[in-house]
Amino acid sequence: MSNMQNNKKNEEIFTILKTTRSLAYVPYSNFGVAACILADNNKYYTGCNVENAAYPLGCCAEASAISSMVLDSAKKIKEISVLGSGNMLCTPCGGCRQRIREFATDNCIIHLYTDEGYKQSISLAELLPLSFGPANLK
Ligand code: THU
Repeated sequence: MSNMQNNKKNEEIFTILKTTRSLAYVPYSNFGVAACILADNNKYYTGCNVENAAYPLGCCAEASAISSMVLDSAKKIKEISVLGSGNMLCTPCGGCRQRIREFATDNCIIHLYTDEGYKQSISLAELLPLSFGPANLK
């Protein structure tokens, strides 16, 4: 399984993720998350989590990165990298798995980083089996 995002190496992605995470607005959880999408136009889109005093209104890093991608007219995620805080893997939450699914196919690879760097990669199909997606509504 690929452990690299096309043109950028793991180390470069890790640097981007750390910079992005440093921008996270997380006064409540103090748990910064960063996401970095490689879209099918070969451009990268980043996002961090943005929390809110009304807790459920907080926005995940993956959702922020997807918004950034869509704002640039890109609609297809080739790969996505995620960095949480600490040494445990930060796999995308259930809601974000579905958000990623909207713009990706089953074979989309999700690269997981911790404070120590790149750890492992997993496909969207593994994270969200038998998923419901846009084709179901056609
Ligand atoms: N969070 C993300 O941004 N992405 C995930 O996939 C997991 C959780 C954020 C939401 C909240 O701001 C903080 O992490 C703690 O749950």
